[in-house]
Amino acid sequence: RKASSPRHFLDIKDHSTETLRHILTLAARIKALQQGRRHPLCPGLPLAGRALGLMMSRPSTRTRVSFEIGMKQLGGTVNVLSPSEMQLGRGESIADTARVLSRFLDVITLRTGTDANLRELARWSSVPVINGLTPVSHPVQILADILTFEEHRGPITGRKLAWIGDGNNVATSMIEAAARLGFSLHLATPEGEFTPSETAVKWARDNGGDIRLTHDPREAAEGADAVITDTWVSMGDKDAENRLRIFRPYHVDKALMALASPEALFMHCLPAHIGEEVSKAVFESPASVVFDEAENRLHAQKGLLLWCMEKDDLSDYQG
Ligand code: CP
Ligand code: NVA
Repeated sequence: RKASSPRHFLDIKDHSTETLRHILTLAARIKALQQGRRHPLCPGLPLAGRALGLMMSRPSTRTRVSFEIGMKQLGGTVNVLSPSEMQLGRGESIADTARVLSRFLDVITLRTGTDANLRELARWSSVPVINGLTPVSHPVQILADILTFEEHRGPITGRKLAWIGDGNNVATSMIEAAARLGFSLHLATPEGEFTPSETAVKWARDNGGDIRLTHDPREAAEGADAVITDTWVSMGDKDAENRLRIFRPYHVDKALMALASPEALFMHCLPAHIGEEVSKAVFESPASVVFDEAENRLHAQKGLLLWCMEKDDLSDYQG
C-alpha cells in the first residue's frame, strides 16, 4: 500500500491549474499515440496489470464506455459493477465496500445519485476514486470539453464561454474550470432553484474566476466563443413538465447562436433533447462539436487514468 494519499479525482476545484493542464496534456498525447488503435492488448502498455472498477448506479453511455474502452486500450482490465447487485444493495456499508474493493482494484469510478456516497467512498478507499457524475458535479465531462474547445479554437484562457439553461452538475464543474483555466463564463439560467450553485460561484470568484450570472440567454451568448447547454431534466430531477415550461426561453437556436462570435462552437455533453434545449439546426450545424466532445471523453479518461495511477510519465511509451 502507498503511504501517500491516493490521487482521487472528485472535483475540478480540488486540483491546481498545473495538474489539470498535465492531465489534459496526457490526454492529448495518448490520443495522438493511440489514434486509430483498437484494443492493443500487448504487454508494455502503461496500465498493464491494473484493474478499474466501474460502479454505475445511474444510466450512462459515454462515461461507462469511454472508461471501459480507455482502460483496456491502456492495457488494464475492467470490472463493471452495478451497486444494486452488490452487497451494497443489501446494506453493506460504503466504508467496508471501499476497503474491500481497494484490495482488488487499482482505481474506482463511481456514478451515483447521492453525492455524499462519492465522498464516503473516497474517504475509505486507498486507491484513487474518480467522480463519474453525481447530482452535484461532473468533472470528467469538463476535461473532454476543454480538450475539444482547444483542439478547435486554441487556448481557452481568456476566452468567453456561455452556459445556457440549467445551473446543474455540469455547470458547476464548468464554473470551477473557468477559475482554474482562466476563461470567462457567462451563465444564463432561470431564477430560483435553477441558478448555479452559490458555493461553486463563490469558490470560483474567490479564486479569480470571471463568472457572470444572468437570466437573459441573449446577454450571456453575446460575443461568446462557445455556447454550451445541457438537458433541462437531469437524472433524478422531478417535475419534468414544469421544467420544460420554465426553460423554454433558454432554447439554443440559430437566432441565439447569431449573437455569439461568428466562430462560436456549440457544445453539449449529451444526451441531447432536440427541440428542447437545442434546435435541430444548431445541433447539426458545422458549429456543433458535440460528437468530438463525446469522442474526447475516451482520450480524457485515458489521460486521467494515467494520472490517477501515477503512470503519468509517457516518455518510455511510444504507442
Ligand atoms: N455526458 C455523459 O456523461 O454521458 P453519459 O451519461 O452517457 O455517461
Ligand atoms: N446534467 C445531466 C448530465 C448527463 C450526462 C444529468 O445529470 O443527467
